[in-house]
Amino acid sequence: MAQETITKIQGPIRAEIKVPGDKSISHRSVIFGSIAEGLTEVEDFLTGEDCLCTMKAFQKLGVEMEFNEPEKKLKIQGKGLAALKASDLDLYLGNSGTAMRLLAGLFSSLPFTTTLTGDESLSGRPMKRVINPLSEMGAVINSQDGKAPLIINPEASSKKLQGISYESPIASAQVKSSLLLAGLNAEGETTVTEPHKSRDHLERMLEYFGADISVSGNKVSLKALNNKNLKAQKIVVPSDISSAAFFLVAGAILENTEIKLLNVGINPTRIGILEIFDKMNVSYELVNKRLIANEPVADIIIKSSRITATTIEGDVIPKLIDEIPVIAILAAQAKGTTVINDAEELRVKESDRVATTISMLRALGVEVEEKPDGMIIQGRDGKAFEPMVDKDLQACMIDSHGDHRLAMSSAVAALHSNKPVTILQTEFVNTSFPGFFELLKSLNHYIGVRS
Ligand code: S3P
Repeated sequence: MAQETITKIQGPIRAEIKVPGDKSISHRSVIFGSIAEGLTEVEDFLTGEDCLCTMKAFQKLGVEMEFNEPEKKLKIQGKGLAALKASDLDLYLGNSGTAMRLLAGLFSSLPFTTTLTGDESLSGRPMKRVINPLSEMGAVINSQDGKAPLIINPEASSKKLQGISYESPIASAQVKSSLLLAGLNAEGETTVTEPHKSRDHLERMLEYFGADISVSGNKVSLKALNNKNLKAQKIVVPSDISSAAFFLVAGAILENTEIKLLNVGINPTRIGILEIFDKMNVSYELVNKRLIANEPVADIIIKSSRITATTIEGDVIPKLIDEIPVIAILAAQAKGTTVINDAEELRVKESDRVATTISMLRALGVEVEEKPDGMIIQGRDGKAFEPMVDKDLQACMIDSHGDHRLAMSSAVAALHSNKPVTILQTEFVNTSFPGFFELLKSLNHYIGVRS
């Protein structure tokens, strides 16, 4: 089990960094490249383990790919949806809920059996949210009471799925994307309506690859391909705002600091953290705004801030769902009490992130109260964290519970703690952010650098 010890860092810091590619877009680029016709080239592909699992799954179904790891360039030789071939091997999807739910949708529409498996965390996560609507479309999926492994189309039937008009009870891009991918190869039209709008990368990519899709508010409708194929495209993956979030919060809570993050995706369905920055008086600037491969991108400059507390709830929650553990660190540095409501989805992420975020905050000496759908955090008004010392080990330890975002959030807090913090199970950061600890420690090289 890997661990890392992080110590306090003090400004002045003037840094310019680039975080890895967006996880959601990287998964989808492999899926689209694999089912389209022609050569799809993907630049800045995320080499996190989650996305590599999606890549290997399609390779097992016969898709040819060439991956240049140092350059993060992926070439996918697509031959259309009908060219995907059955594999006798299980498709292992590691820690990735996105891979399992999206592939469950797409593979439900194929005339052969696929078996999707995952690690311990993924095997405990709810899959009925996709199994139920996919079954309504005519899919047959065997599961362990709604959990992985999932056996899709066990009888290898070639019966076509039927399009569906589905009112999703939750705002989940994974559910929406799963049904739309199934709908590509179904009869007729598939419509998904959500209570709040979730990330729309799949819709943007469908449009970019030439599908017949229309979006109106929280409602998306897609016409089936009817044996036509999507056309291969060139994709440049923007840096993941969910990974940038760790450095944005670090920049805001550290004194005399300014960090420029290059090439970050600022899709409106993902920038809840910036909306919350506005409410919490965090000082940031977007520069060099542009549109690349149908996704908006900018450089973000973040500066040390005097942070104020707020309430985080409602429509903004799906736009920052993955950032809540690190936003909790920001809130713990604010002046006043921050309340997070409507975030019950956190309970079914890679860990129960309400519980694990609260135990992280308590280990850092923060006062916090648990709610079924969130938490109430007492801010320290800029005062450094005072992590608890483990009596036996004489060190401050935070268990990340095998959750990548918990490990990285704890590391950000440790930069502003009055004792070194040792974070356990840090190997999991590779699921979404390979090189995270190296990049975080590289901030030390920028100390004393003034612009
Ligand atoms: C994702 C959607 C989100 C997010 C996950 C990635 C996606 O999950 O938490 O990390 O790529 O579609 P939900 O859609 O289930 O909220």
